[in-house]
Amino acid sequence: MDYALIKLVHKLTVVITLALFLLRGFWMLRDSPKLQARWARIAPHINDSLLLAAAVGMLIVAEVNPLDQPWLMAKIVGLLAYIGLGTIALKRGKTQSLRIKAWIAALGVFGYIAAVAVTKQVVPGL
Ligand code: HEM
Repeated sequence: MDYALIKLVHKLTVVITLALFLLRGFWMLRDSPKLQARWARIAPHINDSLLLAAAVGMLIVAEVNPLDQPWLMAKIVGLLAYIGLGTIALKRGKTQSLRIKAWIAALGVFGYIAAVAVTKQVVPGL
């Protein structure tokens, strides 16, 4: 498949994952039962699987090994941190204060991953 097309899918799913994370975070802040809605629990997983599949797809098409590219390793580590913090924010966090802190930290990590993606630098701006 065409690299540019897979990259477009990657970028679209990036926008969707952020929109869903912001929406669910908003529901978490308001203690809304909507957070437990079936679609709200399933849709992010489908989208995030697509996001990751597109990332892996690009690496395969371009024959790139992420171990050779520090910025790709930074994205993978960042993604793991984003998932961990996101789970605390929306599911596992015992107190509201912890959930809010994890949500803000997850958004910070998300911004970092996006900055790494655009600059292809482990420390964007340097
Ligand atoms: C939440 C997680 C992620 C976010 C927010 C994200 C964001 C982005 C964005 C915004 C771009 C477009 C950059 C541009 O326009 O130049 C991009 C490209 C890309 N991402 Fe991700 N990404 C994520 C996860 C990953 C992961 C885990 C990998 C795999 C290691 C990956 C691999 C790539 C590759 C190979 C490109 C294309 C680079 C290029 O050809 O310009 N991404 N990513």
